Amino acid sequence: MTDDRHLRVPEHPPLGRRAGIDLFDALGTTRSIRRFTDEPVAEDDLASMLFAASRAPTGSNRQPVRWLVLRDGPSALDARRLLGEAARSMWTGKRSSDGYEDGTGVDPTSPKARMARAMSAFVDGLDSVPVILIPALVRYRDPTPTEGASVYPAVQNLLLAARGLGYGGVLTGFQGLVETELREVLGVPDGVGLMATIAIGRPRGGHGPVRRRPLDEIVYEDRWEGIAGWVTEPAGTRHTSAGPSGR
Ligand SMILES: Cc1cc2nc3c(=O)[nH]c(=O)nc-3n(C[C@H](O)[C@H](O)[C@H](O)COP(=O)(O)O)c2cc1C
Repeated sequence: MTDDRHLRVPEHPPLGRRAGIDLFDALGTTRSIRRFTDEPVAEDDLASMLFAASRAPTGSNRQPVRWLVLRDGPSALDARRLLGEAARSMWTGKRSSDGYEDGTGVDPTSPKARMARAMSAFVDGLDSVPVILIPALVRYRDPTPTEGASVYPAVQNLLLAARGLGYGGVLTGFQGLVETELREVLGVPDGVGLMATIAIGRPRGGHGPVRRRPLDEIVYEDRWEGIAGWVTEPAGTRHTSAGPSGR
């Protein structure tokens, strides 16, 4: 008898709508989106994003990630209010401590001033962002520095799927500012960590391109700072010099 296991056509995953974008185009344009239209996120699209997130790997395949979806339910509205207040107070402090209104920030066309405007609009509108998602980690041991490694691949899968479906989003740490109150409002049991706050919606404006340090600055061949002469980037790749300098 023939073993046809390898000949079977895989079933289509239950995606509401398929992404019409090349994987590398999505990778190159999945930027943080902080400004959204009022359009709601369709439930089948949200389900598709969460399906993509659930395909991510986790340590020993323990699958400890749970997703709190905050839309317009009574607990969600309370949680949004908490997150919005926390984000605004964090940004008020950061804007002055990080000098967003000094130096090049006084020029409204500077990247610093643009970032400040985007952040202000983002935190001001956080309560009414179409969807907020909180990935949670069901712990099986005391918190460890590496436990987020079983959560953040899922977060990036979700953001890529959102991009593929024409949505955008941003990963933030706002939940950490009001964790005690959020746990109460959302009924989160002990032993579960709240790992991020992700805003999702239709972008107001464009998507990309992602700008990062040049690849030949961050890839080392054979030893620390060894030159990897073979690394190449697509023509037109945009760069930034943010972060620690390379070799
Ligand atoms: C671990 C982590 C934490 C982040 N926290 C925040 C945050 O609290 N607020 C925010 O607006 N963006 C946050 N971001 C988004 C980054 O600021 C953003 O990805 C980075 O500036 C690069 O910009 P880009 O995504 O548009 O390319 C976070 C991203 C990561 C990976």
